[in-house]
Amino acid sequence: MNTSTPLPRLENLLHPDQLLDKQQLLDGLLQPQARINPKFFYDERGCELFTRICQLDEYYPTRTEATIFQQYAAEISQALASQAQWVDLGCGDCSKTRQWLEHLAPTRVIGVDIAGDFIQACLANIADGYPQLECVGVVSDFTRQLDLKKLLAESPDSPPIFFYPGSSIGNFERNAALRLLRRIRQHCGQQGQLLIGVDLVKPVAILEAAYNDAEGVTADFNRNVLEVANQLLDANFDPSAFQHSAIYDPRNSRIEMRLIASRPHTVRLGTSAVRQFQRGEYIITEHSHKYTPTGFSLLLDEAGFSQRQMWTDADHWFGVFLAEPKA
Ligand code: AVI
Repeated sequence: MNTSTPLPRLENLLHPDQLLDKQQLLDGLLQPQARINPKFFYDERGCELFTRICQLDEYYPTRTEATIFQQYAAEISQALASQAQWVDLGCGDCSKTRQWLEHLAPTRVIGVDIAGDFIQACLANIADGYPQLECVGVVSDFTRQLDLKKLLAESPDSPPIFFYPGSSIGNFERNAALRLLRRIRQHCGQQGQLLIGVDLVKPVAILEAAYNDAEGVTADFNRNVLEVANQLLDANFDPSAFQHSAIYDPRNSRIEMRLIASRPHTVRLGTSAVRQFQRGEYIITEHSHKYTPTGFSLLLDEAGFSQRQMWTDADHWFGVFLAEPKA
């Protein structure tokens, strides 16, 4: 990195009150059917494990999406506005955004993620290679609240392109997915676009293998959420007392990940709560919804978008949808 270049601007829209997260985690664990929101997976170790998951033979979504992006890069770029404000939701290390820069020549890149320092460093790297490009980092839990209107209004002649790859939309329950898509729609005005990656319905054996890899990386990823709970709540979960399970539920078209207690025991949740687990009782840690092309198109429609195009791979395992505001 060129040390003379100033660091990209960073806006912190994160709610300063970590108590909200704690309360959400605690409430979920005290429900009759215990639940942990999958956003809690991603502490430092969780992010490392997720990176490893994305490289596993069994976990097809990442490489399938990448293949689609590669194969159709020219066609997708042609369908996207140039001189746009490129908004990467959940940008991580911005590696997925990087590949579009040469094709699209946006005026601005806005990277939105929950990890602030990381965004700034990654955007600084991009800014070094593209001196004309304005890079802005936004630290935000956009799954809770997406509010970028002021920022986007700073460049009124440049329509926003929302980029939401990785099929993370699948981790929202249907109503929450609809809420997020509607919120994105509200940010689009009449000219904005949404490019979104969605995992598609496919044979159960392929789906279940992707979430039950032979090396046990997904199992470690799943159990690590209990370490996160220990940290956040000052709880005393013993992750080795829980077994990983991931089963496809065809009625709801989703993988359900669970942590199943292998023996009866009691867990302390901070100073004022406890939770007892019977053998076989479980915590639901993630839903990963799989859509049919028609099903996702209907969801887009309900959110106020019309689907302009969908690109898929030879097996139809993954879809990249381009959506635009309905006229
Ligand atoms: C981030 N998200 C799209 C992943 C998925 O496939 O639902 C998270 C994941 N969970 C287990 N493996 C991967």
